[in-house]
Amino acid sequence: FLSSFLHHIVIAAYNDKQNDSPAQPTERPLNSEEIYAREEKYGAHNYHPLPVALERGEGIYLWDVEGTRYYDFLSAYSAVNQGHCHPKIIAALNAQASKLTLTSRAFYNNVLGAYEEYITSIFGYDKVLPMNTGVEGGETACKLARKWAYIVKGVPNNKAKIIFANGNFWGRTMAAISSSNDPSSYEGFGPYMPGFELIPYNDTAALEKALQDPNVAAFMVEPIQGEAGVVVPDQGYLTKVRELCTKYKVLWIADEVQTGLARTGRRLAVDHEEVRPDIVILGKALSGGVYPVSAVLCDDEIMLTIKPGEHGSTYGGNPVGCQVAIAALQVLEEEKLAENAQKMGELLRTELMKLPKDIVTTVRGKGLLNAVVIKETNDYNAWKVCLRLRDNGLLAKPTHGDIIRLAPPLIIKEHELRECIDIIQRTILSF
Ligand SMILES: Cc1ncc(COP(=O)(O)O)c(C=O)c1O
Repeated sequence: FLSSFLHHIVIAAYNDKQNDSPAQPTERPLNSEEIYAREEKYGAHNYHPLPVALERGEGIYLWDVEGTRYYDFLSAYSAVNQGHCHPKIIAALNAQASKLTLTSRAFYNNVLGAYEEYITSIFGYDKVLPMNTGVEGGETACKLARKWAYIVKGVPNNKAKIIFANGNFWGRTMAAISSSNDPSSYEGFGPYMPGFELIPYNDTAALEKALQDPNVAAFMVEPIQGEAGVVVPDQGYLTKVRELCTKYKVLWIADEVQTGLARTGRRLAVDHEEVRPDIVILGKALSGGVYPVSAVLCDDEIMLTIKPGEHGSTYGGNPVGCQVAIAALQVLEEEKLAENAQKMGELLRTELMKLPKDIVTTVRGKGLLNAVVIKETNDYNAWKVCLRLRDNGLLAKPTHGDIIRLAPPLIIKEHELRECIDIIQRTILSF
């Protein structure tokens, strides 16, 4: 009786929450305030957006629902390197979307191989494993490293370790937060994934010590730490990472999800030192911000350790994602976006360095992945600066309290960048 009684209560509660005539999505145009309020009411509170409600993007510009135009200086965390709604990428999306969208990997399709051939030839690796989000790319790289450690390196089963650097960020899955030393990422979500160890970033002595453990499978690192606040390691760091990983037979995994694809002024950020990681993870701009597409690149010795049925994703390698990625990569090459990022980045940093040091204490970056550090006072902090930048027509977002990342789409031209520099200078001087 008791169990049947409880069952009825559970069913009644369930029915109470369900709605036979659910609200249809609102069709009336809402103003910005109404848009903030609706998200606040119905959406999880796992983000703290800058108050601006966007409805359109084109190239380097975004427009809010009231029609105000802004320069985009975030580029969706470097996903929109090619500019918003790039016509070539959108055309590829539309053409494939009306033909064939998803087969799953249960069958072959006529697009995946073309994409695989193209991306591996651009980056010079034997094979690619397609996924969707950046964090899935990171998960894939970790799984490959563990498999390789057991099959090729001879690490005893379940003993493989992966080394990460303090300040790393590669997403929000259980594995990603287990390798984080940022309490806002990991606290309250334990227990954590075993087999991960942290060392200081930009510290090759610490790396060498860690790699001496024979059970280490891989060192996974961002060539420039994006979410940590655009932390650029010393010149020569990546070269030394390559040397040490080779010496100790450890895989070097480069997380190029944010730094890759022309953002830092080279096709990959590791190209600044002309070094080749064993595994490269790409995401974000691999679709130009149009669709979730990520990829892991490596050679056969590593990739072929994973056998059919051991890894995958329903949407990974789908025909729409593949066509979008081909177009997104072609745009980077055809429009020489790495060269432009390199040139515009130098101009941006040179001009920003002229700002008063008592407000902007540091300017750093490579290509068009840059950050300024704002000295906080009672009158201003990075959040207040970003609000005033918005009021002056430029969108940027603070990270870690006092850092503002400045990363426009890579198609930005000199006269446009100069206008943006003027906005940033005027805004900061107004404090
Ligand atoms: C370096 C790096 N790796 C991985 C990720 C995760 O990508 P996603 O949010 O697409 O899962 C990010 C996201 O910001 C990143 O910056």
